[in-house]
Amino acid sequence: MFKKPAGVLMFLLVILKVLGTAETVCSCTASVCHCHIRGLTSVPQDLPTTITFLDLVINRITTLSQSDFSEYTSLEMLDLAHNDISTINSQAFSHLSSLTIMWLYGNQITVLRADMFMGLENLREFYISSNPINDIQAGTFESTPKLRSLNLSNNKLTVLRADMFTGLGNLEILQFQGNDITDIQAGTFNPTSQLTFLRLSYNKLTTLRSDMFTGLGKLDPTPNVGDLRLSDNTVVTFPFEDLSNIQTISRLTLHNNQMTTLPSVAYDVLSSISTVNIDNNPWQCDCRMVEFKLKMIEPSSFDKQITCSHPGNFSGQNLVGINPEDLMIDCQKPNITRFERVENYLLLHGQTVRLFCEATGIPTPEITFILPSGLEFNATVLSAGRVTVWENGTIIVTGVTAADSGRYACIATNSAGSTLAYFSTDVVYFETSPTFSLPILILYLIAAVAGTLVIVAIVLTIWCKCCRKDRSVGPDAGTPAMMGRRHGARVPWDHPLGM
Ligand SMILES: *[C@@H]1O[C@H](CO)[C@@H](O)[C@H](O)[C@H]1NC(C)=O
Ligand SMILES: *[C@@H]1O[C@H](CO)[C@@H](O)[C@H](O)[C@H]1NC(C)=O
Ligand SMILES: *[C@@H]1O[C@H](CO)[C@@H](O)[C@H](O)[C@H]1NC(C)=O
Ligand SMILES: *[C@@H]1O[C@H](CO)[C@@H](O)[C@H](O)[C@H]1NC(C)=O
Ligand SMILES: *[C@@H]1O[C@H](CO)[C@@H](O)[C@H](O)[C@H]1NC(C)=O
Repeated sequence: MFKKPAGVLMFLLVILKVLGTAETVCSCTASVCHCHIRGLTSVPQDLPTTITFLDLVINRITTLSQSDFSEYTSLEMLDLAHNDISTINSQAFSHLSSLTIMWLYGNQITVLRADMFMGLENLREFYISSNPINDIQAGTFESTPKLRSLNLSNNKLTVLRADMFTGLGNLEILQFQGNDITDIQAGTFNPTSQLTFLRLSYNKLTTLRSDMFTGLGKLDPTPNVGDLRLSDNTVVTFPFEDLSNIQTISRLTLHNNQMTTLPSVAYDVLSSISTVNIDNNPWQCDCRMVEFKLKMIEPSSFDKQITCSHPGNFSGQNLVGINPEDLMIDCQKPNITRFERVENYLLLHGQTVRLFCEATGIPTPEITFILPSGLEFNATVLSAGRVTVWENGTIIVTGVTAADSGRYACIATNSAGSTLAYFSTDVVYFETSPTFSLPILILYLIAAVAGTLVIVAIVLTIWCKCCRKDRSVGPDAGTPAMMGRRHGARVPWDHPLGM
């Protein structure tokens, strides 16, 4: 009847299942139950309640319900990898407060919800890779505060946001390789200040926002990411400036991306990292690389990784072997295309002045401002007292005084040279009130106009009364010529006031 041994095995398994308990299906000791590859469609309910490890790998479970693990409160490790789980009911794990490791990779989960992992207060490691997860709802990990390692690789996530990671203050390892991530929003890593390993390779990252690393060190003096993997994306620009604030980085991978040039600050960042891979990017060896090249004096680990791409003047050569002067052929001296005040109303004492300077050139020029006081600010300095400078060439001076009146200079510099432009502005100062504001000024103006009108009215009233007295007292009306002259002078005022 049975031609294949596998068929016999299946028959025996079915018999066992019909006859006996799952315990006979599974192979159990008091502390461990192995139930892998048993064709199970639900979590067996008759295993020893003392087990600390339950292995349910490769079965056909589709749903996890609230009661499924209620008997197994001693569980420390739960392996549910390679099932068909698509539904995890709220509180399914609420009895598993001893659980420290859970494997859920290779299932059909699409969304992680805030009520899903309630009760897993001691979970340290969580492997939920290779699912079709496309969303992690806000607060999902708030019930797992002890999590140290989270593997979310090979899912379908497209965007990372800070609210996905709230509660993960102890997370050290975070893996997202092989998703479809195109955007990492500002402050995403703010909740994960203990992160040391971040893997984002094999995604669709193109531009990396300069604010995405804030939680990884810029605002955070505590230990931060030491291992950052970003290979195999489509990264065109990488915010090296922001990485320079992360002190502890020891490995950075950016190979197989779309970067074409490296700014000079990239040299300082890369040479401070012990393991770097920036291989296989379409490096353009032209004027934009001059500043980086000029810093390549000492041998470095990435010397052989910057191979000039095709087409290009130095296709196939390593940047390290090229003479900086040969790179400068297509340099363009900076051209300041705009230098102006952002607002154009009268600048009053105590107010804020904003100036915007825009410059073109190859390589992209760096902007420096010189204030009327002679103080100098580079457009990389963020803030110093009353003065703030943004990277896009905006300078903001708050609480202006007479000392801020005068000539502001914008200097645009690149390796081809520098260009200067001036903008002058005056600060208007009112003696009466050092904290003059626009509404107060308007009130003053209204009061002044009203006062003038009242005085004019009084003067004219008195004058008219005098005239009437003149007319009634003096019988001689004068010569017609004289009368005409007097009348002519009086007419415009006589009518409105006299009648
Ligand atoms: C994370 O999951 C991926 C995919 O399953 C796997 O290749 C990788 O080794 C996992 N990482 C760790 C540290 O387990
Ligand atoms: C190098 O590139 C520039 C600009 O693309 C081009 O004008 C010049 O002819 C090239 N020089 C060589 C030697 O190929
Ligand atoms: C500089 O920019 C201005 C404004 O865009 C333009 O008219 C001028 O030709 C440019 N000069 C150079 C040298 O490129
Ligand atoms: C501004 O930048 C220039 C050139 O990059 C540099 O020489 C100068 O020291 C910088 N000044 C300040 C105040 O950072
Ligand atoms: C410069 O950057 C600031 C902050 O990012 C932004 O608010 C401002 O609009 C930008 N200015 C211009 C002219 O791009």
